[in-house]
Amino acid sequence: MSRPGAVRVGVMISGRGSNLRALLEACAAPDFPAEIVLVVSNRAEAAGLRRAETAGVPTRVLSHRDFPDRAAFDAALSHTFEAAGVDLICLAGFMRLLTPGFVAHWRDRLINIHPSLLPLFPGLDTHARALAAGVKVHGCTVHFVRAEMDTGPIIGQAAVPVRPGDTPERLAARVLEMEHRLYPHCLRLVAEGRVRVAGDVAEIDDPGSDAPASLIYPAPPRARDTF
Ligand code: GRF
Repeated sequence: MSRPGAVRVGVMISGRGSNLRALLEACAAPDFPAEIVLVVSNRAEAAGLRRAETAGVPTRVLSHRDFPDRAAFDAALSHTFEAAGVDLICLAGFMRLLTPGFVAHWRDRLINIHPSLLPLFPGLDTHARALAAGVKVHGCTVHFVRAEMDTGPIIGQAAVPVRPGDTPERLAARVLEMEHRLYPHCLRLVAEGRVRVAGDVAEIDDPGSDAPASLIYPAPPRARDTF
């Protein structure tokens, strides 16, 4: 079933798929400007595939092991998304590096969510590294993908406090909750054509008034309810 006028989105996953679920839920609203038309996983056992099937969204498994090299795998990915008429790809916990050729082909049509306030903490183990660095504010970022890992014009970010006694797991859970709010919001902005890339920066038309006015933590006395 296709919704006229909606941006056709393909999602790439490797695992749990909780961000996929958040995107599926957002896209289920009749006025949402995007629809998910295909979910591709490189791992057959990815739990996210079941979420997509439950939502009635077509899925494909493309295992990187079935291809001689990264370029061949990425070419198959591109072909699969193009055959499905995909306009925009969302990476949602896809755990393979993509080739510069794939990234260039989908330039400004490929977005990712990363569990840190980029450009801080690119790569893995972001929550443990944030704790080790002693930052007081951590969060997540949705960005257009560029060839270098976890770089590219930032579409949106959400911040959470790092609280005394946090473990990587507790911090990860707090960030993940924000990921599930941020990703659909950013997808909406992109799908509505409100994001313009100028060099390394994404400019947002009318970012709305969702965000609190300040993100200061520890909160000063008059902003105790900031977070
Ligand atoms: C999320 O933390 C996301 O930021 C990162 O990979 C994780 C995927 O989790 N890119 P899920 O599969 O969406 O639950």
